[in-house]
Amino acid sequence: MIEQLDAIHQEALSAVAAVHDEPALEDYRIHFLGKKGTLTQAAAGMRHVAKEDKPAVGQKLNQVRQAITGLVEERAEALLAAKDATAAKGIDLTLPGRRPQEAALHPLTQVMHRGISALRQMGFTLAAGPEVETEFHCFDALNTPVDHPARNEKDTFYFADGHLLRTHTSSVQIRTMETTAPPVRIIAPGSAYRRDEIDATHLSVFSQMEGLYVAEDVSVGDLKGTLERLFHSIFGPKTPVRFRPHFFPFTEPSFEIDIKLQPKGQEARWIEIAGCGMVDPNVFAQICQSRGDDLYDPDKVTGFAFGLGLERLAMIMWGIPDIRWLIENDHRFLGQFAKA
Ligand code: PHE
Repeated sequence: MIEQLDAIHQEALSAVAAVHDEPALEDYRIHFLGKKGTLTQAAAGMRHVAKEDKPAVGQKLNQVRQAITGLVEERAEALLAAKDATAAKGIDLTLPGRRPQEAALHPLTQVMHRGISALRQMGFTLAAGPEVETEFHCFDALNTPVDHPARNEKDTFYFADGHLLRTHTSSVQIRTMETTAPPVRIIAPGSAYRRDEIDATHLSVFSQMEGLYVAEDVSVGDLKGTLERLFHSIFGPKTPVRFRPHFFPFTEPSFEIDIKLQPKGQEARWIEIAGCGMVDPNVFAQICQSRGDDLYDPDKVTGFAFGLGLERLAMIMWGIPDIRWLIENDHRFLGQFAKA
C-alpha cells in the first residue's frame, strides 16, 4: 500500500503542471482528494493492512494527503497571481494615485452644528415647526398686531388661503408652548422667508435659530448668561458681547446683541448678531387661552427667547462678503471649507 500511495503522489506531482485554470484545478482536486478520489479510495484499503503496519501506512497516507492538498493550494495561488497580473497589464502602478476630493459640511451646517452643540450643553433640546404657517402662529400669538409692517403683503409671502411662509422661526415658540408643559428649553433651527430684494446681505429664504426657555423665575440674568456663553463658545471666550435695548412685539424688555470682532486687516467693531428678550406676558396669556389651562400663567412663569440668523453668523465667522455665495453651490467657494 505504501507503493500505491507513492504512485498516487507521483501522479499528483506530474499532473499538476497541466492545470491551467480554476475548473481544471477543481477537477484535479476531486480526482485525488474527492469522496471517490484515488487517495480516498486508497485510504479505504487501510482496513486490510496488518495491525503492526498500520502506524507506518497511516503516516504515509497523511503525508501524501498533505502533499496533494499543498499542491492544490499552491496552484490556486499561482492561478490567482496570474489573473492579477493580466488585470494589471498596461496599468502603471508606480504612477501617483488620484485622491478623491475631500468632502465637507456646508458652512451654514457647520455654524448650525456649533450653535446646537453649545446650546445642548446648556440643556436645550431640538424642536421644529412648519414653514407654511398660520397668521396666528407667526404673528397674532406673538403679540404682533394686524397693522404691523412685517404682516404687510410687501414683506411676507402669503398663500391664497391665508397661510404664509413663516417670516421667522419664532412661530416654533408658540407651537412648542401649545403642546408642551413648562419648563421648556428648546432650540429650533430652520428656514424663514421674507419678500426681500436679493442682494449681498439679503436672501428671500434664509436660516434662523430660535431659542426659548420658560420656567419659574427665569431672569434677564439667565438670558444674558446663556447668550454670552453661546457666543463665547462660537467666537472664543474673550469675545466682548453687549446687549442693546430694542423692540420686538413678543418680548419685553427686548435687546439686540452685538459682539465685538476684529475682521482681518480691519479695526475691531461691534457687529449685530441676534435679537432676544423676555417673553412678553401677552404671549403667555395667548398660550393659556389656546391651551385652555393656566400652566403658562404669566404670574407663574417667565422666560426668554432669542433668534439669530445663521447666514449672518457664517459670514462673520469666515469673513464671507456676499450672502449669495452660501446658496450658489460653487465648488471654488465651498471647497475652501473642506478640511485639509
Ligand atoms: N424673530 C426675531 C427676528 O426674526 C428675532 C427674535 C427672536 C427676537 C426671539 C426676540 C426673540 O428678527
